[in-house]
Amino acid sequence: MFVSRRLATSARLRQFAYQPRAIPIQTSSFSTSRCHNAISDSLRQKAQQNNQQFKLDNLFNVKDKVALISGGGTGIGLMATQTLAVNGAKVYITGRTEEKLNRVAELYGKEIPGSIIPVPADITSKESIQNLADAISQRESHLSILINNAGISSHTQTTEHDNANDLRKSLFDDPDATIKDWEDVYRTNVPQLFFMTTAFLPLLKNGSKTHHGWSSTVINISSISGIVKTAQHHFAYNASKAAAIHLTKMLANEISGSPESRLPIRINNIAPGVFPSEMTTGESDEMQKSYIPKEKYEKKTPARRPGKDEDMGSAVLFAATNQYLNGQTVVVDGGYVLAAGSV
Ligand SMILES: NC(=O)c1ccc[n+]([C@@H]2O[C@H](COP(=O)([O-])OP(=O)(O)OC[C@H]3O[C@@H](n4cnc5c(N)ncnc54)[C@H](OP(=O)(O)O)[C@@H]3O)[C@@H](O)[C@H]2O)c1
Repeated sequence: MFVSRRLATSARLRQFAYQPRAIPIQTSSFSTSRCHNAISDSLRQKAQQNNQQFKLDNLFNVKDKVALISGGGTGIGLMATQTLAVNGAKVYITGRTEEKLNRVAELYGKEIPGSIIPVPADITSKESIQNLADAISQRESHLSILINNAGISSHTQTTEHDNANDLRKSLFDDPDATIKDWEDVYRTNVPQLFFMTTAFLPLLKNGSKTHHGWSSTVINISSISGIVKTAQHHFAYNASKAAAIHLTKMLANEISGSPESRLPIRINNIAPGVFPSEMTTGESDEMQKSYIPKEKYEKKTPARRPGKDEDMGSAVLFAATNQYLNGQTVVVDGGYVLAAGSV
């Protein structure tokens, strides 16, 4: 018998089509094949115990953890410092300006469950990182949280030119557009993540042994500038932050991801959008805090505002405590990347 090709195809398709099965009508609303027995008191108790795991105290507990934060005296580093210290961690803060660090310890380190301890260092110098590691090792047997936050921005240039000569004038002829500027921003924002992390590996490993159920963690503060496709008028800074994100992933892979190493240390990065800091505003007040008027970002971010202390604080707690987070970028930007677009 002749069957057209079209008919044969539709017959074949019907063969694989969803066939509804006849479901027997239940005589009672309680099916013994699907549900367990009635709920006993001991089962209820077990459920109560299970509920405890979801308490904030358990999920986001940093009490008695030892932390080190670079650039902890201002901006985002200060937000991270306060977050950990007011929740019971012992937080060492480092930076080049001792006065800033001391002021933070005096202002924010009193009458809180944790503590803030200044230790000055320059994270662009390997020798200074070594001295810092020695200083912390002399005081502590372990480190639970390392936040590599210190960073600087680069020279800014306009890109809004519609002819080659003007664009060249802005990007090349500008006397402040120097290779040294690129080197400076790279030196501060990138190699330090490598040298700080590797200098503290033994202390970090001890941190995982010290607290049951805790793997020590490195959190690099990168930026959405390493993700968006626009140069935001600072090519060198954005290139350095893209490098910071990639370096975080390589470190996570080599230190804890590969079967050869598998150290119990989680390495992630937080990519902030715009937050008030000395970098973004050029100054800080007597509280060592900086301020950006909300209106300035009304049209620039879907959140219609710059980031707040609490936005950064909750991201830091999440990245520090979530034991299943490793090798990732946590973007906290009020939707900036959504609007600006990524590469
Ligand atoms: N604020 C934002 O909108 C934003 C957005 C995305 C990413 N970020 C990143 O967040 C991090 C913190 O920046 P911030 O915005 O909070 O700016 P900030 O207030 O200027 O903080 C930077 C901190 O880093 C320290 N620092 C700089 N160079 C150092 C060095 N060589 N050795 C040791 N410490 C050094 C500074 O202290 P000293 O000068 O005393 O050394 C300062 O406390 C940076 O990595 C930045 O790229 C910021």
